Amino acid sequence: MRKKIVAGNWKMNMTVSETKDLIAKLKDKCSTNDVDVVFVVPSIDVTTAKECLKGTNIKLGTQNFYYEDKGAFTGEISAKMILDAGAEYVIIGHSERRNIFKEDDAMINKKLLKAHSSGLKPILCCGESLELREKGTYKDFIEKQIKSAFENVSESDALNTVIAYEPIWAIGTGKTATSDEAEEVCKFIREIIGKLYNDNVKSNIRIQYGGSVNAGNARELFEKEDIDGGLVGGASLKEEFINIVNYK
Ligand code: 13P
Repeated sequence: MRKKIVAGNWKMNMTVSETKDLIAKLKDKCSTNDVDVVFVVPSIDVTTAKECLKGTNIKLGTQNFYYEDKGAFTGEISAKMILDAGAEYVIIGHSERRNIFKEDDAMINKKLLKAHSSGLKPILCCGESLELREKGTYKDFIEKQIKSAFENVSESDALNTVIAYEPIWAIGTGKTATSDEAEEVCKFIREIIGKLYNDNVKSNIRIQYGGSVNAGNARELFEKEDIDGGLVGGASLKEEFINIVNYK
């Protein structure tokens, strides 16, 4: 049985003071054993968030890192810095990083390898544009993203990877994929993983859906056979997130 994982990607929102207020509102009702809950906060908020989350079982993550250990990489943070500050998850390959910051498949593969070798738990994002969806070639595109990301990743590390299927056309648009559309691709991703590894990894790897998840659609999405929770943007910044975490 795969445990569901619901993560809130705060993106570039919440100052340190706002972080305190938001966590105060969310933490009691988001602290549950039924699902894994992760707050994926801006890295500057990690230390404060860690303090505010004491006594809960809510996990912390950051939204990005660089794959080198240290040195002359102005503006970047390392895996070690994230872990030392108290976060354990990291998002890799979000479409906003791919599109705005020009991260390519090769870089995302390096980040996935580094996250695992450092002990960070990666949430690896994939997903197609509206153009590819309409052309009908979205599965080929996603297969390429997954194969490239998992190059040289061991079986045990693959098992510890969370994949987030986030169709770009559904992110921040209010246009959610239908639960059948989301399930189709999550199932397809699981099959690719099965071919790359084996039945054990295929049936145990966790695959989330992300893209305009809200309190009204979470249950239908998360109850699909191959959808193991969600990566939530906008709605993770509101009390609505409580209802998403407690979708049952
Ligand atoms: P929204 O939930 O705001 O559509 O964002 C989804 C997302 O990009 C999460 O990583």
